[in-house]
Amino acid sequence: MIPQPFIHDLLNRLDIVETIDRHVPLKKAGANYVACCPFHSEKTPSFTVSQTKQFYHCFGCGAHGNAINFLIEYSGLTFVEAVNDLASYMGMSVPEQQPEPSNLPYSSKEEYGDDSEVSSQDLFNVMKIATRFYREQLKVSKKAIDYLKKRGLTGETAARFAIGYAPANWQNLDAAFPDYKSESTQNLLINAGLIVISENGGKQYDRFRDRIMFPILNQKGMIVGFGGRVIEQEEPKYLNSPETKLFEKGRELYNFFAARRAIRDAGCVVVVEGYMDVVALSQHGVNYAVAALGTATTSFHIQKLMRQTDNIVFCFDGDQAGKKAAWRALENSLSQLVDGKYLSFLFLPEGEDPDSYVSKFGQQAFEQQLKQAMPLSEFLFKELSRDTNLQSSEGCAKLVRDVKPLLQQVKAPALVLMLIKRLSQLSGMSQEELAELLQIKRSPKPRTRGTIPRRAPVTPYRWLIQVLLYKPSYINKLDRSFLVGCREDEEVLALKLLIEMLDTYPAVTDSDATASILTYLQDSPYKALLESIESEILEWDDSIDLEAEFSGALLILKDMQRNKRIAELHSKPLNMLTEGEKQELKR
Ligand code: GTP
Ligand code: MN
Repeated sequence: MIPQPFIHDLLNRLDIVETIDRHVPLKKAGANYVACCPFHSEKTPSFTVSQTKQFYHCFGCGAHGNAINFLIEYSGLTFVEAVNDLASYMGMSVPEQQPEPSNLPYSSKEEYGDDSEVSSQDLFNVMKIATRFYREQLKVSKKAIDYLKKRGLTGETAARFAIGYAPANWQNLDAAFPDYKSESTQNLLINAGLIVISENGGKQYDRFRDRIMFPILNQKGMIVGFGGRVIEQEEPKYLNSPETKLFEKGRELYNFFAARRAIRDAGCVVVVEGYMDVVALSQHGVNYAVAALGTATTSFHIQKLMRQTDNIVFCFDGDQAGKKAAWRALENSLSQLVDGKYLSFLFLPEGEDPDSYVSKFGQQAFEQQLKQAMPLSEFLFKELSRDTNLQSSEGCAKLVRDVKPLLQQVKAPALVLMLIKRLSQLSGMSQEELAELLQIKRSPKPRTRGTIPRRAPVTPYRWLIQVLLYKPSYINKLDRSFLVGCREDEEVLALKLLIEMLDTYPAVTDSDATASILTYLQDSPYKALLESIESEILEWDDSIDLEAEFSGALLILKDMQRNKRIAELHSKPLNMLTEGEKQELKR
């Protein structure tokens, strides 16, 4: 736990332009700095860094954040690592804050040992040593080699994926770690998820025994976990490392690190279900495949992949479980969709998985299949209208009802339009009727840098958020009476949240940098909205008349409130108005 004021201080002292420029050379352009975005492939720069406001924003892929976020995304660091990195660069030392005592009856620490004193660096090291050990063990195990050969893997492929073998004994790792018995090594091994202490007291044994070992690398190429497959028919078929300080399953993708280059070159990524699918595809020349680690595809995975490529193909088994996994992936990607990104689904013939398919038919046939993958929109409607008679009114109504919660998650304007069009064809309802029924607001076109004047029409609420993000100290001048009884949509809720935050952390108002404001709201449901509003002030510079912006927004708000009140009073019959109300109306 790093105290928030320290993070705030750090962000205000460092320069994001300098931080990013160390990794991605920036060019000055008007009030800001630009570069081709490191998070998606593009030919003209839309990655913009504001020096005055200390944040970056990509108008192409929506990547957004401060210097800490940049290091997390770009270098694959954890939050704490990024803060440590920046602090040591600035010559600041990071204070520690004791975590709140947990009132849970037991904490996860008991299971995985006491992690208070283990460092990530030590854990990485342990994983590296273990990987080397397992690989050596593979070389001398006829059983394991025979198994991999039987599955068609070449020695070259096994080496490329650093595949190994954990022997069958209860304790093997003592051979790999010279001071295995020491308390610190035991502690490290427990925290790395490699050994387990038996419940009835103190006997430790290896987590992975008699298994083919697949090392899992993080975005920086460091080994963070293992997947272990049984050789015989046993349960469970796969055993994965537990979540550790290094390893968070919902965030990692198998083979992502090695595939990055191939993904860019191929212009697409294939998401498959299994380790063996990834490995077999790679052996047959399809190097741009990744797999989730025995979890559903998360929206975090989608985000990560969309930074690398515009084209994601999910390739799941042709069976019922594969369909289910595909549907989960669809649900988790809806909120992440951006116009210009293309998601599709490939279902292999019943009984085949990517591994068996590519082994039988080869790279070309597999890539031919990829080209014929089903677009997300088609999969969506196909699944929803299965067992539904669209010739009947009831069937159509059911389709519209089922589509609604899904469609409402999509933020990409063109895609929403296309989905409504398709739904209109299927249901026979007009697009206007559907938009009404689905309560889909026609969202304003996303702004692109340079082409749309700064003063494009925005709501006064949004306008106020812009001003407060640009200059937080305006919170002190803010007359909040307009907040009483105003409509409660997303922008208003975001504005209220921002006001509450600025009231709670007065230190923020003294700073000139915007960068740290949103770090206070990391987990807020309005984070994405606030980020997008923040990006709208990128074009602002010191020439802006802030006072005018501020009072302009307030004026419109007061006007709105007055009109609303007038309408309210007008809606009553004249003889029902009190004397006071009559006066008010006259005024
Ligand atoms: P093979 O059977 O060797 O071809 O494996 P596979 O990689 O093709 O795996 P499969 O398609 O059966 O399962 C897909 C993925 O789900 C695996 O790669 C694992 O990540 C995960 N998985 C499968 N079985 C288990 C299990 O028993 N336990 C856990 N934790 N994960 C599993
Ligand atoms: Mn398989």
